[in-house]
Order: sequence, then structure tokens, then C-alpha cells
Amino acid sequence: MPTKTVLTGLQPSGTLHLGNYFGSILPNLQLAEKHEKSIIFLADLHALNSTQDKKKLQEYTLDLATSLLACGLNPEKILMFKQSDVPAHCELSWILSTLTPMGLLERSHAYKDKKAKGQEATAGLFGYPVLMASDILLYSPDFVPVGKDQKQHVEITRDLANKFNHIYGGSALRAPEPVISEEVGVIPGIDGAKMSKSYNNTIPLFGTPKEIKKRVMQIVTDSKGVEDIKDPETCNIFALAKLFLSPEELEDLAKKYTTGKIGYGDAKKLLFSAIEKYMTPMWNKYAELKKNPEYIVEILEKSAITANTIANRQLEKIKKRVGLIS
Ligand code: ADP
Ligand code: TRP
Repeated sequence: MPTKTVLTGLQPSGTLHLGNYFGSILPNLQLAEKHEKSIIFLADLHALNSTQDKKKLQEYTLDLATSLLACGLNPEKILMFKQSDVPAHCELSWILSTLTPMGLLERSHAYKDKKAKGQEATAGLFGYPVLMASDILLYSPDFVPVGKDQKQHVEITRDLANKFNHIYGGSALRAPEPVISEEVGVIPGIDGAKMSKSYNNTIPLFGTPKEIKKRVMQIVTDSKGVEDIKDPETCNIFALAKLFLSPEELEDLAKKYTTGKIGYGDAKKLLFSAIEKYMTPMWNKYAELKKNPEYIVEILEKSAITANTIANRQLEKIKKRVGLIS
């Protein structure tokens, strides 16, 4: 196992869905398992940009931690903590902001996209990449797994690390490598568009089986009857089935599509059974964890002590370099 550190942050910004699981949680956990040191933190300071509701923020944060544990995160191996429990993130963010060119932030795709979609252009949203750079540089990771949309933020982090080292001398900050999981495509929602909480087309990761079945039965299809020849590659049910069925089961389903041997109703039932089979161990674990929120809080508090130790050591080094302490 390589002695490299991998770090990523996940925003507690809503109820998790299957797109989050296959597009982010699963690849992150797989990568973290492969490295000696792994850090996954709950980016609640970032989430303040989109969730300005005390109860919701707390609920989403605890739920994200619960979900990650239910998905198999081993807290003995992976350091999972809450960003706001480590004040050094904000302190370093200020220091870095004093050397961040406005133009660099103005070119951020995420900022431009959010602004274009009507989100208010606050200083928090504008300075998002600086806080993200601090999240990363405090822990000197080798790799930062992120979705494609976040690649530019990791590049900004690299620019800021290099600029800091250039201005203050030495190599206090390590420029990390982004890891973009190319094989994970976009998971479609029940209408075939990208599954996203903004499009009301999600299948929840931890709903009740009844809720999930209801969503599966709502998957949008054309109006072909049972005996009509269907194209699996353009079918929303089939696209989701690819995530849950074995290659043989998938081939069998494809054959039924192309020979007019299955209707959409039965295909949906088959998909739900496959989801249920795959997810039941996680659903059970989630239900069990939900009964004991104190256990989750305890993990977060314990991890925050370790995270503060690492982050404060790095912050002290940085403060010495810039002359805030001697
Ligand atoms: P949403 O689009 O529902 O608001 P987020 O932006 O909060 O989702 O997603 C968090 C992470 O989950 C993203 O960075 C991305 O990696 C992953 N993700 C979300 N939706 C999908 C999807 N449909 N397909 C693949 N990955 C996804
Ligand atoms: N910006 C990331 C997202 O929205 C979350 C995040 C915050 C992050 N800080 C980070 C990811 C540091 C990796 C490293 O998905």
C-alpha cells in the first residue's frame, strides 16, 4: 500500500441520492481504502453558501456522516471530521486570500455557473476556491479525488500553493494532484437527465423501500407495449439497471428488450429488486446508526482532535513563514 495521503471533502447540502453514491461516495471510499492515510471531511462551512437554515444544516451534516458510515467508511482507518470543528481552515483561508488574484476567482466555472443560475454573488461564493485550497493545503495530501466540476478548484489550489512558496520561500505548501474518476459517468435520474437534487428526478440512497419503489415505478419511458421491440441503450430503466445487475443479468434483460419479451412495468420491478438486494445491507446499517446519533457525534469529535493537531501544526509553520508568529 503506497504511503500517500488522499483527501476529499463532501458538502452536506441535501438528501443523498444514487447519483451521489455512484458518482462520489463509492469511488471516494474505494480510493481511500487503497491509501494508508485517508481524510474525508464534511464541508459544512462550504455548505453555508447554499443552506442558510440552522436545522437543515445540522440535519444534513449528521446525515452525511451517518450515510458515509452506512456505505462502509471505517472510522478507524479514514479520518472523517466536520470542517467547522477545525478553525485553522478559516485562518489559512484568510492568509491565502491576501495573495489570491481576483482574476483567478473571476475565472472559476463553478462561481460563474452559480451566478448564471441566479444564486446571489456573495463573497463566500466568490472566495469558495480559497477556502477549498485551505482545506487541502493544511493536510498536504498527495491526491484529491473530485468530480470533473471541481478540477479547476484543485488547479487553483496548486496555483496558490506555488505562489505562496514563491513569495515566502521554501516549500511549506505542497501542490496536490487532482484525481478525476473518468470511468464514473453521469448517473441518470428517473427522467433520463443527470440525477440531481435540483431537478426533482432523484432516487434517494436511504429512503424507505416503499419510497424507493415508488420512484423506480415513476421512471420515464416511451409508450411501447410488452411485445414491442425496445432499445435498451435509450431506456432510462436499463441505464440504471447497469449499476445493479450482473453482466449476465444485464445481457438477459437486453435480450428481452430486443425480442419484445418484457414490458416496462416488469423491467421496473426487476430493477427495484436489484436495487433492494444491493442496498439492503447499507439500509440496515443506516437504520441502526440513525438510532444512535451520539455515536456519530462521538466519532466526529474524536476525529476533530486529530484533524486539529495536523492542521494546527501546518498552520503554525505557515504563520511563521509569513511573519505572524516568530
Ligand atoms: P446535486 O446535483 O444533486 O446537487 P451535488 O452537486 O451535491 O449533487 O453532488 C455531490 C457530488 O456527487 C458531485 O460532486 C458529484 O461528484 C456527485 N454526483 C451528483 N450527482 C451525480 C450524478 N447524477 N452522476 C454522477 N455523479 C454525481
Ligand atoms: N467543493 C467540493 C464539492 O462541492 C467539496 C470540497 C470542499 C472539497 N473542500 C474540498 C473537495 C477539498 C476536495 C477537497 O464537491
